[in-house]
Amino acid sequence: PEDGPLAGRHVLVTAGPTHEPIDPVRYIANRSSGRQGFAIAAAAARLGARVTLVAGPVTLPTPPGVARIDVESARDMNAAVRAALPADVAVMVAAVADWRAKDVAGTKLKKRGSAPPVLVLTENPDILAGLGADPHLRPPLLIGFAAETDDVLRYAADKRRRKGADWIIANDVSADEAGGSVMGGADNTVHIVTADGVEHLPTMPKDQVATAIVERIADALR
Ligand code: C5P
Repeated sequence: PEDGPLAGRHVLVTAGPTHEPIDPVRYIANRSSGRQGFAIAAAAARLGARVTLVAGPVTLPTPPGVARIDVESARDMNAAVRAALPADVAVMVAAVADWRAKDVAGTKLKKRGSAPPVLVLTENPDILAGLGADPHLRPPLLIGFAAETDDVLRYAADKRRRKGADWIIANDVSADEAGGSVMGGADNTVHIVTADGVEHLPTMPKDQVATAIVERIADALR
């Protein structure tokens, strides 16, 4: 709403995986449903923000009141993020592929022949770190996510400093006792790592996690 706590603010969110082409029919990607990022975009819009959602390839509907830009690769996502700036806050939820194929084949790689092809990879831009390192681009509040399977809080605190982020929202994506996983699931357990310490949020549906995060963003911008 126009009188919500984020009225007049521009919130930029990245979500989903990126797809890095190998040939016209194959790609490399991270596992990501996009659900947590879409939920954050939706929650920010509900609190009155102007929201730009830069989305990798996912099959989710666009939340009400959100301007969505669809991209495929990490380099496309980086360009779309930079074009959408300035923003009051950027929340980088996307599971960006760290590497892409160094050379993309123009035609489908064929199985015939002797040995399987060897994939040579090259590093993708780190979108979050790129904003964190550039005072001309950096939003006043810069937030990253860290999906880890072990030692979640230590890696998150390292990541916060290394990428120049204000907050890292850490979640444990190791399989739970039931053998399930947060990847693609409905619930999430997150820890908000800031310069001042760590706030542990209870396990909740992803839309409630999103609401809690966005309320803290509104408080921080006030
Ligand atoms: O290093 P790692 O991939 O674990 O960092 C995760 C955080 O960095 C997330 O916020 C993710 O969106 C962001 N990221 C990025 N560009 C990359 C890799 C990660 O923005 N190339």
